[in-house]
Amino acid sequence: MSPGLPLRAGERVGAYTIEQPLGEGAMGAVYRAAAPDGRKVALKVLGFDAASQPEAVARFRREARVTSALGHPHIVAALDAGETDAGEPYLVMELLEGEDLAALLAREGKLAPPRALALFAQLGSGVAAAHALGVVHRDLKPQNVFVTCGAEGAELVKVLDFGISKVVGGLSVMTRSNASLGTPGYMAPEQIEGRSASADARADIFSLGAILYQLLAGRPPFVELSIPALLHRVVHGEPPPLRALAPELPPSLVAVVERALRKQPAERFASVEELLAALAAAAPPRATTSASRRGGGALWVVVLALLGLVVGGGAVLLLLRGRGR
Ligand SMILES: Nc1ncnc2c1ncn2[C@@H]1O[C@H](COP(=O)(O)OP(=O)(O)O)[C@@H](O)[C@H]1O
Ligand SMILES: [Mg+2]
Repeated sequence: MSPGLPLRAGERVGAYTIEQPLGEGAMGAVYRAAAPDGRKVALKVLGFDAASQPEAVARFRREARVTSALGHPHIVAALDAGETDAGEPYLVMELLEGEDLAALLAREGKLAPPRALALFAQLGSGVAAAHALGVVHRDLKPQNVFVTCGAEGAELVKVLDFGISKVVGGLSVMTRSNASLGTPGYMAPEQIEGRSASADARADIFSLGAILYQLLAGRPPFVELSIPALLHRVVHGEPPPLRALAPELPPSLVAVVERALRKQPAERFASVEELLAALAAAAPPRATTSASRRGGGALWVVVLALLGLVVGGGAVLLLLRGRGR
């Protein structure tokens, strides 16, 4: 294979035949491809000439190793990994049908709280499984969360892209390159500031908080027009109050999101399990029912007011008619 990208349909990578592009991120490009037995897979390659980027190649190899080690229903499954004759590493994954969360949120905006929480619980369970194996993702954001169709048509979440993940206590810890700062609006302040020693599992909790905020609010917590301004805002600024953007949410649920987004790692939840438990306690099914009842109450006020207008207007008309006679 020549390292030229984009790859075209019909090109071979190892034993796989490229069919069409699926997506691209800061580090790599992902294609739909056919395995020798005809099975369709997703194939990820480095987004640039490997020979000139030894650090990126090492990182990519590690991504392949980490992904293969993490078998979990809410983490994309690795099927194969290898290198072409030219030394280009590639990772073969299960082919997911659907779209990433960034595309879903761009189309649908704010999600109804029960749906948002159901998607988030799956995302959290995938991240918790990685943490249990000592892997911190470090790049959780909507582009790296895939929503596919599971059994009986239910939405099924899969965590993608362990490209800049860190193995805590592992043999090697990669230094972060600027390439990883593609969309820094979800990165924890301590990661942005390069305090990498403290960028542990709680950095992922911050990113999860940012994703949960967006699911419920319809916009990311930190938005700026330039990358430097965005980095500054994540480190020093506060997001717009969630209760103002989503007044229907119970205050206890808003408090969970706010705690996940604390600047100081020690003030966040200590683990993803703790975050998920706090969410379950803050938003029991009853809370949603009472919220919809409140919504229903507001609806009734509007209906009654309209009825009043119609009845009152009719009475006025009758009066006027009576006078006219
Ligand atoms: N297994 C897969 N099946 C389908 N689409 C995928 C798969 N893996 C990745 N993608 C798509 O490709 C995009 C980039 O993949 P990702 O692994 O995040 O690469 P990068 O490291 O370049 O960010 C994702 O946002 C997603 O839309
Ligand atoms: Mg990505």
